[in-house]
Amino acid sequence: MSIINHPGPEISEAMAAEIAERHFGLKGLKGRLASERDQNFHFGPQGQGAVLKIVNAAEPEDAIRFQVAMIRHVKEADPDLAVPLVRLSKSGEALPVIEDGKGGHHLIRAVDYLEGAPFAEAAKTPELLASFGSFLGRLDRALQSFGHVGAHRDLDWDLRKAGRSRARLAAIHEPEAREICDYFITRFETEIEPRLAKLRASVIHNDANDWNVLVSADGQAIAGLIDFGDALHTALICEMAVAAAYAVLDAEDPLGALSFMLAAYHREMPLQPDEVDLLFDLVAMRLVTSVTISAERAPRIADNPYLNISERPAWDMLRRLRRIDPFIAKAILRQACGFEVAPGAAKAAEWLTRNRKSLSPIWGRPLSNHCILQVPFGDASHPLVKAAAAMDVAACETAWQTLCKAENAELGIGPWGEKRAVYAGEMFQSKLIDKVRRTRHLGLDIFADAGTPVFTPLAGRVASVEIEKEPLGYGCVVLIEHEPEPGVTFSSLWGHLSHETAKHLKNGQMLSAGEKIGTLGSSQDNGGWLPHLHLQLVAYSTDDIGPIPGVGEESYLDVWAKLYPPAYDFAGLTPETFHRDGRPGDEIVALRRKTLLPNLSISFRKPLKMVRGEGVWLIADDGRAYLDCFNNVAHLGHTHPEIVEVIARESSRLNTNTRYLHDNMVDYAEKLGATLPGDLKVASFVCTGSEANDLMLRMARAKTGEKDMVVVDWAYHGHVAELIDISPYKYKRAGGAGRPSHVWEAQLPDTYRAPADWPIEEHGKRFAESVARQVEAIRKAGRKPAAFIAESIPSCAGQIFFPPHYLEEAYRIIREAGGICVADEVQVGFGRVGTHMWAFETQGIVPDVVTMGKPIGNGHPLAALVTTPDIAKAFNNGMEYFNTFGGNPVSCAIGLKVLEIIERDRLRDNAKAIGDYLMARFRDMQKRYEVIGDVRGMGLFLGLDLVTDRTTKAYATDFANRVVNLAREEGVLIGTDGPYDNVVKMRPAMIFTRREADLLCDVLDQAFARASAEA
Ligand SMILES: Cc1ncc(COP(=O)(O)O)c(C=O)c1O
Repeated sequence: MSIINHPGPEISEAMAAEIAERHFGLKGLKGRLASERDQNFHFGPQGQGAVLKIVNAAEPEDAIRFQVAMIRHVKEADPDLAVPLVRLSKSGEALPVIEDGKGGHHLIRAVDYLEGAPFAEAAKTPELLASFGSFLGRLDRALQSFGHVGAHRDLDWDLRKAGRSRARLAAIHEPEAREICDYFITRFETEIEPRLAKLRASVIHNDANDWNVLVSADGQAIAGLIDFGDALHTALICEMAVAAAYAVLDAEDPLGALSFMLAAYHREMPLQPDEVDLLFDLVAMRLVTSVTISAERAPRIADNPYLNISERPAWDMLRRLRRIDPFIAKAILRQACGFEVAPGAAKAAEWLTRNRKSLSPIWGRPLSNHCILQVPFGDASHPLVKAAAAMDVAACETAWQTLCKAENAELGIGPWGEKRAVYAGEMFQSKLIDKVRRTRHLGLDIFADAGTPVFTPLAGRVASVEIEKEPLGYGCVVLIEHEPEPGVTFSSLWGHLSHETAKHLKNGQMLSAGEKIGTLGSSQDNGGWLPHLHLQLVAYSTDDIGPIPGVGEESYLDVWAKLYPPAYDFAGLTPETFHRDGRPGDEIVALRRKTLLPNLSISFRKPLKMVRGEGVWLIADDGRAYLDCFNNVAHLGHTHPEIVEVIARESSRLNTNTRYLHDNMVDYAEKLGATLPGDLKVASFVCTGSEANDLMLRMARAKTGEKDMVVVDWAYHGHVAELIDISPYKYKRAGGAGRPSHVWEAQLPDTYRAPADWPIEEHGKRFAESVARQVEAIRKAGRKPAAFIAESIPSCAGQIFFPPHYLEEAYRIIREAGGICVADEVQVGFGRVGTHMWAFETQGIVPDVVTMGKPIGNGHPLAALVTTPDIAKAFNNGMEYFNTFGGNPVSCAIGLKVLEIIERDRLRDNAKAIGDYLMARFRDMQKRYEVIGDVRGMGLFLGLDLVTDRTTKAYATDFANRVVNLAREEGVLIGTDGPYDNVVKMRPAMIFTRREADLLCDVLDQAFARASAEA
């Protein structure tokens, strides 16, 4: 006879009162208390009451002694835990024996009566659930140091034995009910039981059901736990499973309720992910055990109300759990404990963040480079949303076109996590939470024309290709599994593609990064939506599209964010697309007018507010990324991580001046000198190109004792007064005071506009004659030239490339006249020309002084002058040279790093290769656009000389301006230069790639076509 069907003791109340008094001195019987197999009698007084238990004779004595020992242990380990302490009898026994008057013997015991209302009747607030979780956590923590022979029991209520439910299934006749049990039992047999056997085990209470748990008078906290009759040694996680099975029975959001309990339990008694992973199924199996036991006993013990007490709610809950995807449940419970939501999800997310820059664009050109609008799916009153909800595709299309036109947008996006009014159908009813709809979008939508191709940013395996034909479905949907490095696996889901896409892809097919996946489906193809891509990251590996939710419950957004992280990086969108900071552009323009010099200029007709730089991209405040083809300062790319690191590291160490010794300055002088030919070995570090050139003037004067300067027409050498004086580009244009008497302009050696009768091979010599004429003029004035200064490739003058031998001749003439020769490499130095480190080297000469700036510090204010020991000696005339910031250790470390990276990454070779490619494409464009009079370039220093007439070579200033502004509208930044601003000027970073070169050329081509059409 088993304990279950062994008749319980039958002691009368009078007898119980007598026994209680005799053995324990208990008085004031208050009544009976429910028990499944024992008899319980409640004795007063209030607050110090006790329960007399008459133990079922079939109960093994070991089991009873085990319970007594267990409660005592808990009280010792955690005295504040409210468990019913076992009282000793008058003779000092915990378990006296009585005779029941019919010859039967029973162990009896008295335990403290714990005050409190049953948890079953309490409102299950988050606070109460958390209090319950922590109570159990403390209990189980206390039990970690407890063991007892009686704990090793064979009980159907042991969840490790829940598989026995299969044998009881026959007692369930209703097919749906049976299917539910069979489903969970099968899962238990195949997935849970083998893993349960490997988990931590300890003694647990094992029956914290809602009638065994007591709640404080205010309903906020757990007041006690009673009935240790099912305690045993089993897997620790079963404690939580049993308790949760009852605690969440009437919850609208059972997993939410369980999460409150679990999180609190975990804080007291940390669980392991493997344990938490089984919890959902174990909760279900506790209910399955309960309903199958009830069903089996029903015919036999139909009148035992205790057995049926939780049956109906148990069935209701089982029905709800059956609809929940166990994988999602696991994720929610893992999240409650602070574990990663799915194994590998954290690694996948971390990999994606770390490698976002290495991903190929998903669109023909980078998504963030487009002019994008946010589709107002969050606004239920918007015509587009109304049309979408009504599935009126034509109205949707019209609303969309109107929007695009109004905002001048090329693409639309629907952000991740957006709360949407369009999800109205039955399919959006939550399976997790009663009476709640799924409203939050878990993908990234990109709206564009049907037929637009999409490309995978990463190599991957086609895990699934399906066509969902039903309305509001995905249409063609593709799942790609990526494993970018061993141990990092995740998937990407591409929904609403054309049916054509499915014809070209098959399961298992490998796609390489950048390879085409398919095209956007039309409304007929894509479930009846406006054409768009639904791109969703799945932070785990799966071949099954079906269970991946595209829309989720608001309250689980934190879980969705980890399971299905926003695909922004993956798609190449910038975070600024979604969060705009700071003042709007027009406010800044107004403030600039009020607070800053009015002669600061602003680029483009529609000014841009840039908020971030990254490589070749500048990101504006609306998140649009502009391809920067103009800024030669960010030589290695904007915010180069190694430069940023050096700045941070060195700044945190020391920043002082040159009056102290430091390694950085001498190291840098040595390394910089090594890049230069001849005697150019003595360096001076300053902060700007102007300072370098100003210092150069002082040196030239010190060396020669003269002041007269020969400069190239339209040159620019800096903004300080002495340099404006030697910059025709400034003194001859608006606001300039004209040429000072000590400055002499040599003709600009512009071979494109050279006199037609000059033989091309004589251009160098012919232009240099102008230098000779200036020297002669100086001589006639009774003086000698101090120096000749030339940008190695005049830039402000319009990207002018000297003809061969020009500098050779010019230098000879100047040196013969006693002057020194200066190469201004502020714009063109540091390998930009590709073939050489210094642009002057292309002319085969060695200057006496080289000045450098702009790219030297990749954006950090650093500049330098390098000269010969001879000139340095002449400059050393007794006056100290001191520059507060020049040569500080931080700047020198940055300069060193820039040199190292140029060399290490072979950036000169890149400049040459990409420059050659660009030149070829520009020459091709020149064939198609009359306006391109001349194409000039070397490495990544390039110019297009625009003319209104190829014969007269008249400057096409307006056209150039139009091209630059059109390119800006298309997301590409270029500029104009030259005295007449007719030269389109490009100086992209040295890391410019072929893909970016193509984008530049495509945009230029379009801009030329549009501007030509308008002209
Ligand atoms: C050729 C040349 N030299 C010197 C300078 C002055 O440099 P900075 O603006 O750093 O003073 C410039 C600046 O545009 C320049 O282009």
